Amino acid sequence: MMTRVLPPDERGLGLAAAILADGGLVAFPTETVYGLGADARDGRAVAAIYETKGRPRFNPLIVHVSSLHAANKYAEIDGPLHILAEAFWPGPMTLVAPVKHGLLSELVTAGLETVAIRVPAHPVAREILDRFDGPVAAPSANPSGRISPTRAEHVLAHLDGKIDAVVKAGPCQVGLESTIIGIEDQKPILLRPGGLPVEVVEQALGREVTRPSTKTVTAPGQLESHYAPRAKLRLNATSPTPGERWLGFGPDRFDGANLSPNGDLREAAAQLFRMLHELDEGAKIAVARIPDEGIGRAINDRLRRAAAPRD
Ligand code: TXA
Ligand code: MG
Repeated sequence: MMTRVLPPDERGLGLAAAILADGGLVAFPTETVYGLGADARDGRAVAAIYETKGRPRFNPLIVHVSSLHAANKYAEIDGPLHILAEAFWPGPMTLVAPVKHGLLSELVTAGLETVAIRVPAHPVAREILDRFDGPVAAPSANPSGRISPTRAEHVLAHLDGKIDAVVKAGPCQVGLESTIIGIEDQKPILLRPGGLPVEVVEQALGREVTRPSTKTVTAPGQLESHYAPRAKLRLNATSPTPGERWLGFGPDRFDGANLSPNGDLREAAAQLFRMLHELDEGAKIAVARIPDEGIGRAINDRLRRAAAPRD
């Protein structure tokens, strides 16, 4: 595909919003780093983010919205998190709060009960969110393992030809990712240090903000306490045995669910968490073999960890 370089004017911003509405990928500046945005309600668009970044795992993504009011549509922002939202949004701070189910793609949250959400301050990001009028999932706009981009040129260096557009609007002022704050045992915790100093957060709350204990999902990457189904999973199955529920991929003739009857890995990624949740009522799930290529690797990573023995 051809990556369009859009100027941050009326036409460019309108096109950026239209591409998002169409399920496309648009890189755009925030005050922290350039983000790679997609409609957070559209599972296929979100799957395309993972595919484009070459992420070997489905780490949950940050959802960008235009206001605290909009954030409340998708997350329960109460107590200390509400104080922080009032104090620091728009700005380089992300809050991890209980998700309100049914609106966002489950791939954005990687099936977790919480969602990471923020209101960016960069005028271009705000203009795009206003025009798009919906939630935008956006990790940093770099391939997995590369440093985060703070200029449109950095984005193009690796993603030219792989995304629909980049809105080019100069360097990001903060230059490092947002500070991520969550809640553990009713207390605020620091999940990722970032653009907003933790001391400033502590001052606003009048209390200490500690690091999470190991039981909590921490950012970035160390997501062992990831959503795991209760049902037992059998992988690389060719057919369900009696008592097993079936999760297929590609054409098959079994009752149950199918991640993608056409064998489309991006569709399979988009359906994965929702279908695991739905099948989780049963005691055992047999899962068809998923090709271990492209985004299929992230699907298999998730399935393997869901199938691993646990207590
Ligand atoms: O500054 C930023 O935050 C940039 C710009 C583009 O806004 N975005 C960004 O997004 O850094 P991303 O997707 O690369 O970072 C998401 C981080 C990951 O480290 C992930 O583990 C954490 O947020 N995260 C997301 N959802 C979470 C959740 N429910 N619980 C704990 N951590 C979460
Ligand atoms: Mg990143």
